[in-house]
Amino acid sequence: MSTTTTVIFLLFITFTTIPTSQSNPPKFPCQPPHNSYPFCNTTLPIQQRAHSLLSLLTLSDKINRLSNNDTGIPRLGIPPYEWWSESLHGIASNGPGVSFQVGPIPAATGFPQVILTTSSFDRTLWGSIASAIAVEARAMYNVGQAGLTFWAPTINVFRDPRWGRGQETPGEDPVVVGAYAVEYVDGFQGGNLKFVGDDKKVGRRRRALAGGDGDGLMVSACCKHFSAYDLEKWGIYARYNFNAIVTKQDMQDTYEPPFRSCIQEGKASCLMCSYNAVNGIPACADHNLLQKARTQWGFDGYITSDCDAVATIYEYQNYTKSPEDAVAIALKAGTDINCGTYMLRHTMSAIDKGKVEEEDIDKALLNLFAVQLRLGLFDGDPLNGRFGKLGPADVCISDHKKLAMEAVRQGTVLLKNDNKFLPLQKNVVSSLAVIGPMANATNDLGGGYTGVPCSPTSIVEGLKRYVKKTTYSSGCLDVACTSNAGFAEAVSISQEADFVIVVAGLDLTQETEDRDRYSLLLPGYQTALVTTIAATSKKPIVLVLTGGGPLDVSFAQADPRVASVIWVGYPGEAGGRALAEIIFGDCNPSGKLPVTWYPEAFTRVPMNNMNMRPDRSHHYPGRTYRFYTGDTVYRFGYGLSYSNYTHSILSAPDTLRVFKSFKTESNNILQRKEGFYNYLYVDELEEHCDSLRFQVEISVTNHGPFDGGAVVMVFARAPGSFKGAPLKQLVEFERVHTVSYKDTKTRILVDSCKHLSIVNESGRTILPLGDHTLLLDDIEHVVSIVM
Ligand SMILES: *[C@@H]1O[C@H](CO)[C@@H](O)[C@H](O)[C@H]1NC(C)=O
Ligand SMILES: *[C@@H]1O[C@H](CO)[C@@H](O)[C@H](O)[C@H]1NC(C)=O
Ligand SMILES: *[C@@H]1O[C@H](CO)[C@@H](O)[C@H](O)[C@H]1NC(C)=O
Ligand SMILES: *[C@@H]1O[C@H](CO)[C@@H](O)[C@H](O)[C@H]1NC(C)=O
Ligand SMILES: *[C@@H]1O[C@H](CO)[C@@H](O)[C@H](O)[C@H]1NC(C)=O
Ligand SMILES: *[C@@H]1O[C@H](CO)[C@@H](O)[C@H](O)[C@H]1NC(C)=O
Repeated sequence: MSTTTTVIFLLFITFTTIPTSQSNPPKFPCQPPHNSYPFCNTTLPIQQRAHSLLSLLTLSDKINRLSNNDTGIPRLGIPPYEWWSESLHGIASNGPGVSFQVGPIPAATGFPQVILTTSSFDRTLWGSIASAIAVEARAMYNVGQAGLTFWAPTINVFRDPRWGRGQETPGEDPVVVGAYAVEYVDGFQGGNLKFVGDDKKVGRRRRALAGGDGDGLMVSACCKHFSAYDLEKWGIYARYNFNAIVTKQDMQDTYEPPFRSCIQEGKASCLMCSYNAVNGIPACADHNLLQKARTQWGFDGYITSDCDAVATIYEYQNYTKSPEDAVAIALKAGTDINCGTYMLRHTMSAIDKGKVEEEDIDKALLNLFAVQLRLGLFDGDPLNGRFGKLGPADVCISDHKKLAMEAVRQGTVLLKNDNKFLPLQKNVVSSLAVIGPMANATNDLGGGYTGVPCSPTSIVEGLKRYVKKTTYSSGCLDVACTSNAGFAEAVSISQEADFVIVVAGLDLTQETEDRDRYSLLLPGYQTALVTTIAATSKKPIVLVLTGGGPLDVSFAQADPRVASVIWVGYPGEAGGRALAEIIFGDCNPSGKLPVTWYPEAFTRVPMNNMNMRPDRSHHYPGRTYRFYTGDTVYRFGYGLSYSNYTHSILSAPDTLRVFKSFKTESNNILQRKEGFYNYLYVDELEEHCDSLRFQVEISVTNHGPFDGGAVVMVFARAPGSFKGAPLKQLVEFERVHTVSYKDTKTRILVDSCKHLSIVNESGRTILPLGDHTLLLDDIEHVVSIVM
């Protein structure tokens, strides 16, 4: 979101309003005498109601609907509606639709930032968190503190380790990002209602949705930012003027898949187009891009611009000759609403100049109204409706706090643990020193898009629950750590303690919206702080790293005085307590990195180069575990635990025949050739894909004294050497619960057409024939696909 004057003004208003616990129920349309319009008639189909509303609007009414701040239509009894609310990992204060200052709900559950929750690789957890956020969202709506349309999740792949918003994403792998998107959207919009029965709240939710017309929404989620958006500000490039040059191959197998999943499987009701241009066309002006979502992926919802992303078409991208042209091209491309005031200000003049037709606006409004109708906004008093009973008693409840805790427990990644230094023995550690600028932070533990957390605990407080005699010194004034003036105090308290924990890493002063990093090293004097404390403390230290982006901590990897390293991301309000549980062995860490941790040398790679594939002639190493050929500090999927796991494949097929289940061989599937290698086009295979699905049975053995979650990741490597084929790609992942010294079995379903296919240089999906290799840790299993 950008900081237009409008936005600054809004925030000013919000923050200067005197806090009150007075409930301010949402105003709603369709009250007498305005209740006889067909758009108020809940027995009519959504489309018919949307058309009915549209038919009652003047041109000026219509133009006034094209902004996030919809000021309402008093003549028709329609109150104002704010489209912009945020909910990335809990209800956030970033959008003007949410207010923690006015009303009876002062705080909402602060879940960990998405990158940490992703590291759990637990789909159920992802979905449950989204459902919990939805409950709090509806509760806040019911007391006038939030809207019903939220602009989350962020599902751009974490392409470059310097990206300031990588923390908001589910990492670098398109399969994982897509899977997260589906769980979030489904859980958030109310589709994740797996529990039936007497549970009072959930049961009511289910009945309410079942009673609707099938496409009802509890709240609306938004897949953002479409597309190829993952650069804030790097050198001369800024997200507002950036033109992402993306190959067909990368578009098809990296940038688009998360959005495809978000829409096709998640059934998201909103899509946000990004600031940047893609191959020369600003995303919000790109008819092919936006219409692809509707026509090919079945998108049914509204498309919003990122904030002021219509203005940037003209002002930053120089793509049009006038503001009117920018409005016209955005509307005609399929942007339905503009976050900001640009369309309010320029649409009438665009019509006068013949650049926009009223029908262009009508199309947009029908999409907007349909989503509002699906949310029940025109169904009468929301407090009597579907989710009307949710309120303050449903926010910051213990179930939600437990989920936040569970996400940190499962997501935190143990990166180093020499000689089983951790866990520390409870009741044996007599004193603890905690050092570092983030160690005493509370609200900053949430990362970007945070609200007001219910009961945040700092890392220091969390550790104090285990060791009374815990001392603290920040060592650096702040995370930037531009001075070593605080080192002496930090050294002195560390020397007095039995064990020392140094909390280093990043906060939002280093990585955030509009701010990418230039280095992957710890900021300022932080490295010196870690090595100084490590060198002077009684025993080797534990290093805890905060932040969303990868860090080059090879110095700590190599330093025997740093016994253990733990990455805790932005753990949110439960962070301090969950981290302490891990350090003292009440929780066995099991998170896996969802992004490659590159060495500092990677910063020589131009951030504006969008290519995923390496290019040796230009010393370009490629990106992510799928393509990157250089050294890593920690690889994608890496993460230790207090147990030691081994895997084995119990069963998997050796050969798959394309025509196995068909009596007569179809002639329309042609075997193609690239060099020596044969392949088939996946879009020609269609129902033959059924015979190419198979199961892999896997056993996980826990060799340690701790029970724990184990993440099983199966990768595949294609046969031959197709140009641009990934080194390997994730097929499936599964989190299983394991018991100490026991085997646990699990099963993974492989759909060859989906999981073993690759994308050729023209962007076409092909299934190579021959030996595909499944990879599970260091185990390989070959599956041959033959005609
Ligand atoms: C709502 O629409 C139905 C179907 O057209 C109609 O029978 C009914 O009378 C309408 N109800 C009201 C209150 O207008
Ligand atoms: C929305 O716009 C109206 C009219 O311009 C303005 O008075 C109001 O403050 C805005 N509302 C919000 C929440 O920004
Ligand atoms: C946009 O176009 C104007 C006029 O052609 C030019 O002066 C300006 O430098 C351009 N800006 C960018 C960012 O290209
Ligand atoms: C730690 O944070 C708490 C709460 O914000 C504050 O009261 C306290 O002074 C801080 N401690 C130190 C040593 O900075
Ligand atoms: C894990 O356990 C196996 C079986 O007991 C053992 O052979 C192996 O060395 C252990 N690995 C580690 C890293 O402890
Ligand atoms: C990729 O597939 C397309 C088919 O649409 C074909 O025309 C092209 O030759 C293939 N490219 C490569 C490099 O195999």
